Amino acid sequence: MNAAIENKTFYGRDFLTLLDYKPNEIEALLRNALEIKQNKAQYADALKGQSLGMIFENASTRTRVSFEVGMTQLGGHALFLSPRDMQIGRGEPVKDTANVLSRYVDAIMIRTNSHELVCELAEHASVPVINALTDAYHPCQAMADLLTIYEHKKVLKGLKLAYVGDGNNVAHSLLAAGAKVGMDVSIATPVGYEVDKDIFEKAKKAAEETGATLIQTNDAKEAVKDADVIYTDVWASMGYEQEQDERMKQFNEYQVNTELAALAKDDFIFLHCLPAHRGEEVSADIIDGTHSVVYDQAENRLHAQKAILLALLTNS
Ligand code: CP
Ligand code: NVA
Repeated sequence: MNAAIENKTFYGRDFLTLLDYKPNEIEALLRNALEIKQNKAQYADALKGQSLGMIFENASTRTRVSFEVGMTQLGGHALFLSPRDMQIGRGEPVKDTANVLSRYVDAIMIRTNSHELVCELAEHASVPVINALTDAYHPCQAMADLLTIYEHKKVLKGLKLAYVGDGNNVAHSLLAAGAKVGMDVSIATPVGYEVDKDIFEKAKKAAEETGATLIQTNDAKEAVKDADVIYTDVWASMGYEQEQDERMKQFNEYQVNTELAALAKDDFIFLHCLPAHRGEEVSADIIDGTHSVVYDQAENRLHAQKAILLALLTNS
């Protein structure tokens, strides 16, 4: 394996939130992702014979395809597991599911609303568990986001990222990501849709190590002022669809559009985890415009996750 890959401290661990990892570990994962992206062929057998079980309780395009393709490109295999077809969907305990799957697969990836359920699964599984989105965090997305920002800005520490919209899982992971790499993160949400207080405090504590400034405000203009990166996400996440109409009213002033983006630095980049709703959280001219790097960002899910898989599954 290439010398750039440093996986020893990761082997066998879970990947539930970036808050569980040290700043130098996040940096190592990013370096590994760049290495794997540049030298894809060298890693074609790295996970030969290994299997990833992927439990999807919610819909997915990017996560499902990038994990499955990532495992294939590393010489391994991924299984799509739907709770609709599994016994867990008929009430089999999480503990039993975790123990049994651990006898078959080398890692479990799960997307479900409940972060507690993922923690319970990780507690009982003897193989690494990867959080592929819960109501609290979306750490694989945040790794791809950092990789994308780094590629476009050549630096992370000292940048300002402005997130405008719902104080959701993606916002939480961006706070954690900023805290770990020393990137300032300003989150602007409508009143009542702020980020989770406990997660914010945990991220602020982590930020003491890197000097990142983390801000939660209700003022979108204040957040976007002089930003290097503008980020937004859907106003109604999975599990909150029934609030869509109410949220359309509450979030009306929080659209990322040309007028708001004019407050950012001239060379700002625009990120969105996707899927996007043009005309709601972002105007079409921004997401389809010259500052947008959303397709690079989507591609980087593949490279960032390959680095995560290699880190958790190889002891080199
Ligand atoms: N960004 C993201 O996680 O996309 P999917 O829901 O398509 O996986
Ligand atoms: N916040 C969104 C992200 C989708 C990738 C959701 O949870 O639905």
